[in-house]
Formats: sequence, structure tokens, C-alpha cells
Amino acid sequence: MNILFASSEAHPLIKTGGLGDVSGSLPPALKRLQQDVRLILPAYPAAKSAIRRLTRVAEITVPGTRTPVAILQGNLPGTRVPVYLVDSPTHFERAGDPYRATDGRDWQDNALRFGVFNHALVALALGRAGVDWQPDILHCNDWQTGLAPALLSREATRPATVFTIHNLSYQGLFAPSYAQDLALPGELWGAGGLEFWGHLSFIKGGIAFADRITTVSPTYAREIQTPALGHGLDGLLRHRAGALSGILNGIDCTTWDPARDPYLDQPYSADALDGKRAAKAALQAHLGLPADPEAVVLGHVGRLVEQKGVDLVLHALPAILPGRNVQFAVVGSGERALEEGLRQLARTYPAQVGLHIGYSEQTAHLIEAGADIFLMPSRFEPCGLNQMYSLRYGTPPVVRHTGGLADTVVDAGPEARARGDANGFVFGPADPHQLGATIERALTLYQDKEAWQGLQRRGMTQDFCWEHSARQYLDLYASLPQAGAEP
Ligand code: ADP
Ligand code: GLC
Repeated sequence: MNILFASSEAHPLIKTGGLGDVSGSLPPALKRLQQDVRLILPAYPAAKSAIRRLTRVAEITVPGTRTPVAILQGNLPGTRVPVYLVDSPTHFERAGDPYRATDGRDWQDNALRFGVFNHALVALALGRAGVDWQPDILHCNDWQTGLAPALLSREATRPATVFTIHNLSYQGLFAPSYAQDLALPGELWGAGGLEFWGHLSFIKGGIAFADRITTVSPTYAREIQTPALGHGLDGLLRHRAGALSGILNGIDCTTWDPARDPYLDQPYSADALDGKRAAKAALQAHLGLPADPEAVVLGHVGRLVEQKGVDLVLHALPAILPGRNVQFAVVGSGERALEEGLRQLARTYPAQVGLHIGYSEQTAHLIEAGADIFLMPSRFEPCGLNQMYSLRYGTPPVVRHTGGLADTVVDAGPEARARGDANGFVFGPADPHQLGATIERALTLYQDKEAWQGLQRRGMTQDFCWEHSARQYLDLYASLPQAGAEP
């Protein structure tokens, strides 16, 4: 099958979160399953400079910009997956990340930027870009690609469309006047279309018009059909329930592997855990924590936003840290108040809190490896990758029972431990006391070396690598009429 995988980020070209990991690792997994899969992204400066050889293969004009847009082609580094970059310098040639300027504020013209990107997707999907390749499947991801399934729905001959929701709380809502600026056909407007309470909604384009909708875990697929986690779109999602399914994300088992992680001096595995001690020492040195093999290190990596429940950690730790040989190692960036909260915690417990405010792949790897217990108390979590990385690194996670966390972490209660399938710790209500009590449970079990190693080994030997999930996507693609299935 010819599959065009559209995303606003893909590791190692550009990444702000899990969408980047998925877009950088699912296409290579589909390639290993013998599919002709190609990625398409906006041509950000980081993406352009990360690809060694880029060729200009086409030039198109699209609504939303008067200047022609070039299509560049290269390969995703380290893979044989072709990448198209949509090169519109006025929209993408900027400092900052894909969505925000360096001051942390969203780009004012995101509707136009991603509108242009969507029009380019449509041109390629319909074979109108002058590129000598056409997809059977257009696989769109998150709001940044939501207009394409809507625009394509009006075409008689077109590829099948799949729209994956990685996070329903980001919807791409803009002033309705952008519908004209982007030349969106009037028939796509309205409550059954791209309108959301008077705004232009990019994500509704994907949800209302794609042939199939997926989200990144089975539990989240159910949760988004409820008012509690539907972010105002649960009604539409229930309406489309027949086309909606959940496929758990896989992880890139090459990038995230304690046995061959270039950030670690001493590799380790489930059968040879010694290197984990060296990783703890390296982490303590890296974050300026006292070098102490006996300290129990709690770790956290993530975007500092309400979703991730970092405020719960800020409220729980003052009852845990004082007078105990427990350290907290964290890397993250995001909302100023949460960054400040972490700085304050580090000032209060300077010998116990190692903090890196910012984005650092190295620190993220060192925390996954060097911590003993990983904290991920998300209020909601469509899938979550960090808990799977921590499982693989022998760092049992403490998670809230939600979304992909509920689908991947099994609480170390007596029965699960007896069965041998426990791999971490799970709690219910998003409340600092519940989190604190669950961390205490983990600290207690940590003292029982044999039980703890059982927990570590279980997580380290589970297979969260992409192949299984990639096959589920393939089955989904193959079930669509445009990809050859009987209508
Ligand atoms: P989300 O996509 O909601 O941010 P995930 O758990 O799916 O959550 O994925 C987060 C990804 O982003 C992981 O690869 C994680 O290591 C990475 N990440 C997030 N924040 C940082 C940071 N400050 N430094 C390094 N990596 C980070
Ligand atoms: C989103 C979600 C996260 C998920 C990631 C990749 O950013 O917040 O839970 O793992 O996308 O699908």
C-alpha cells in the first residue's frame, strides 16, 4: 500500500512531545512491513537541516498564500522512509517550535500556517502536486492535519483517510474568518462540519470527515466518548463510534533501549541490572544531586501542563521528602507557574531535588535509566510513552488510572504480583494524597529487593515495540475500500 503519513512533528527532525516519537517510529515500522509509506511535514528549519540530501520535486500554489509552495523530498535520517517537506518560508522558516514563538506564545497565524500545510496534503493526495507518487491512504495526525480529510471528502476519486487523535484537548480553534482566507467550501461549514461554537475547528475536519478515526489507546477511545474527557466533542465522537477505534502506541525500541542507549556509559538489561546503578550515579552527577547509591530516586519527564498532573507531585512531595533518603529528578518545560513551582521545590529541598527546566533528550534518557521510580500522575493521558520507556528501563511507574496508562501499567497489588503481571503502581482520583500514598507503597516495596526486581523484570521484558501496533494499522488501512477492500 502507498501510505502518506502527515504530521506536524517527527523525531529526529523536530519534536515537542509524543506525537514526534510516534511519527518518527510508526512509519519506519510500516516500512519494515513492506509498505510504501512516506512522511510529510512542514519544512521547519530544523527539519530541513536534519535531512542530508533534499531535492525540490514540485511547486504548487495553494489557498492561504500567494507565494508558491515547494515540495522537497529526502529521507527520514537513519531509515529508508521518504519524507516530503512542505516549504513555505513565510510560514515555516522561523525560530521557535512548530506552534509557538520563542516567547512561548502561539504563532498568531497558525490557522494559515497549517491551512497551507493541509492544502498541500490534499494536492499530493489527489496527485495534483506534480509529484510522481500517490497514496492509497492519507493518514492524518492531530488538528494540524484535520482540514485535509474534510477537503478530500468532496472528491469522487481520492485516497482513503484515517485521522488519529493523539490529544483531544488541542483542537486548532480559530476565528471563523479564516474559513474564507483558506478558501474552505461553504458546504463544509456548520455544526456537522468545521464549525465549533462559532469557531473554525481543524480537529473537527478529521473527526467528522475521515473514513476512520483512531486514537492512541483503547481506553482513551472510550473515554473521549464521555462528557468528562470529550472536550465538547464527545457527542460527535459517539455519533462516529462505528468508525472509531483505539490502537495502543508502540515505542521505538532502538532509541529507547537500556542495552544500547548511547547516553549511558554502562548498558544494562533485565538479566544484568548492574548498569542501572551506574545510571543512577550519572543522573545524580548530571543534575547536581548528592552521589548516593542508597537514595531512592523518583523521576519525571514531560511537558509541564495541567494534563500531566505535575501540580499533584508539587503537593505530594513535601510530605515525602523531609528527613528521607529520597531524591526527585525532573526535566520539563511549559507553563510558567508549574516551572516556578518546581524551582520553589528545588529551593526548599536543594539536596533532594535535581531540576532541569528546558528540553533535553539526554536528561530524559538519564532519568528513565537512573531513576528508581517514574512518576506519571496524568489527569488524562491518550497513550503516554514515558511510562513505557520507564518500564523498559526497569523504572516502575506510578500512574493514574486513565487512558494509555490504564492500558499499560498493572498495579503491584498482591494478586497481580502473585500472577507475575504487576509492573508498576496505579491510583484513582487525581488527588495529591492518593499520589502520595501510592508513592509510599512503591517506596515500601522497593525495600523488598526480590519483589522489586520481579517488578522491574516484568516491565523490561514486556514487548511494547511497534510491530504489533503497526500491524493493527495495516489491518485498518486494508479494510478501507480505496485501499482495495470490497466496499
Ligand atoms: P506527550 O505527547 O503528551 O507530551 P508522551 O509521554 O506521549 O506525552 O511523550 C512525551 C515525549 O516527549 C517523550 O519522548 C518524552 O521523553 C519527551 N519529552 C517531553 N518533555 C521533554 C523534555 N522537557 N525534555 C526531553 N524530552 C521531553
Ligand atoms: C499526545 C498525548 C500522549 C501520546 C502522544 C503520542 O501528545 O498526550 O498521551 O502518547 O500524543 O500519541
